[in-house]
Amino acid sequence: MMPYYEDEAVTLYHGDCREVLPSIAIAPTVVIADPPYGETSLCWDCWPDGWVAALPASVRQLWCFGSMRMLLTEHARGEFGDFKFKEEIVWEKQNGSGFQATAVRRVHEFVSLWYRGAWGDLTINPQRTDDATARTVSRCVGIEADEAMCAKAAQRLASVLAFGGTA
Ligand SMILES: C[S@@+](CC[C@H](N)C(=O)[O-])C[C@H]1O[C@@H](n2cnc3c(N)ncnc32)[C@H](O)[C@@H]1O
Repeated sequence: MMPYYEDEAVTLYHGDCREVLPSIAIAPTVVIADPPYGETSLCWDCWPDGWVAALPASVRQLWCFGSMRMLLTEHARGEFGDFKFKEEIVWEKQNGSGFQATAVRRVHEFVSLWYRGAWGDLTINPQRTDDATARTVSRCVGIEADEAMCAKAAQRLASVLAFGGTA
């Protein structure tokens, strides 16, 4: 298959990944994917069955963007095959996703890490960041808790209950 674009840093192929991947001679060990989540009615937003199975056998680590709903659903359907879930990072977005009929307007997505084979055999270079800034987190801890914080927590719960029509 001919690349759609190529330079010294990148080669792009345009097509259905389930057809492209088996047709090109590459043996990556890591894949980063942002597949359709299947959460809107957009024509392209449909999980392509079998795309994980189409990955070359050389792939040991798979970073997959997605929502919790998508990841749980597709894992339950066996779509991640012999990949095991390891952990996740959170992509915090500026604006909430505009999905209809959800309890909350989420401002995050997950990037989940899957692997196959023995974890100890993988090449892992733990990443650190020195630019993290401290966050203010409201916690309600026992009777010593500040009243304003408790009120805030109660407010959050009230909106969850309200969504379910029980408040
Ligand atoms: C969540 S979007 C990714 C958006 C992209 N990361 C970006 O920031 O623009 C999922 C993409 O997967 C594409 N897609 C859907 N089925 C596919 C398939 N079988 N093979 C390759 N790409 C596919 C869709 O067209 C869509 O562009």
